Amino acid sequence: RTISTAIGTVTAAALAGMAVQAQAAQEITLGHTLSATSHYAVGAQAFKERLEELSDGAFTVNEHTSGSLGGEREMIEGLQIGTVDLVITSTGPLGNFVPETYVLDLPFLFEDYDQARCVLDGELGDELLGKIGEHDLVGLAWTENGFRHLTNSRREVLSPADAEGLRVRTMENEVHQEAFRQLGARPTPMAFPELFTALQQGTVDGQENPITVIVATNFWEVQDHLSLTGHVYSPAIMLGSPIMFDGLSEEEQEWFREAARASAEATRAEVSRLEEEGVALLEENGMTVQTDIDIAPFQEAVQPAYEIFTSQHGSEMLERIQAEA
Ligand code: PAF
Repeated sequence: RTISTAIGTVTAAALAGMAVQAQAAQEITLGHTLSATSHYAVGAQAFKERLEELSDGAFTVNEHTSGSLGGEREMIEGLQIGTVDLVITSTGPLGNFVPETYVLDLPFLFEDYDQARCVLDGELGDELLGKIGEHDLVGLAWTENGFRHLTNSRREVLSPADAEGLRVRTMENEVHQEAFRQLGARPTPMAFPELFTALQQGTVDGQENPITVIVATNFWEVQDHLSLTGHVYSPAIMLGSPIMFDGLSEEEQEWFREAARASAEATRAEVSRLEEEGVALLEENGMTVQTDIDIAPFQEAVQPAYEIFTSQHGSEMLERIQAEA
C-alpha cells in the first residue's frame, strides 16, 4: 500500500505540474491576410514551431489567416492598441505609420532578390527596424512578399501605353499610387480583403502583386492577363505589439526575434520556390503571361515618383540604398 500511495502521490504531482505548465502557456495571436497555403502561412508556421521549441511550450501561437483579423492597415492599428500580438504584413500600409519605410516602396529600386535581401538584412534594414520601434510598433524581422507584377482583365500590357486608363487596385501606399499615376493608370487604393470581389465585380480592372500572392489567391479566376513587370520589390515584415512585447523578459524577447528570423528564412525559401514554379501554374490555370517585357519605358515613366518622394522625404536613405547596388 505504501508503494502504491507513493506512486499515486508522484503521478498526482506530475499531473499537477503539467496542468501548471499548460495554464502558464501564453497564447500569441498572429495575423496575416493570405491563405493557409501561402508563403506568409509558411512563415507563420516556422515562427510557431521555433517559438514553441525555444520556450519549451511556454508560448503557443494561434495563426489567423486570410484577413480574418482585418486588412494590413487595420491589423497594424490592432498591434498599437494591443488587440493583436503579431502581424506579417507587406510594407504597403506601413509608411502611413512609419514614413521612413516609404523609401523601400519606390519602383525599380532593387534589381533582384539578392540585392533586396542584402539591404534588408544589413545596417539599413536594422536602422529601419529601430525607426519602427519609435512608432508604437516592434519590428522583429524583415521577411518577404516578392517582386510585384501587373494583372488585369482587359488587355495584354507590354508598355506603359497599354496601362493607360486601367483602374488598378494599389495598396494604401502613396508611393505606389504616385507611380501608377505616372504610368497613366488610375490607381485605386483598397485593403486586400476587398480586392477579389472588386475584381470580380469589375470595380477595378487590375491589381499588382507578386507571383506568390497571385498563386495563393487564385487570381486567374478573375484576371486573364499577367505582365511580369517586376515594377517594385515588396518587402514584408513581422511586427509585434509593444503592449505584448514590453511585458516579456529579455530572454523571451530574444526568442521572439530568433523565431521571426526563422520565419523570414522559411518565407524567402517559399518565395524563391514559387518564383521558379508559379508562372507555369498560372498558365495552366488559363492566364496569359507576358514574360518578355522591356522595363526601360516603365522605369522612365515612373521617374517623377522619385522626385516627388525626395521632395517629401529627403534623399539620404535612397542614396544609401543606391550606393549598395
Ligand atoms: O497587395 C497587398 O495588399 C499585399 O501585397 C498582400 C497581398 C496583402 C500581401 O502582403
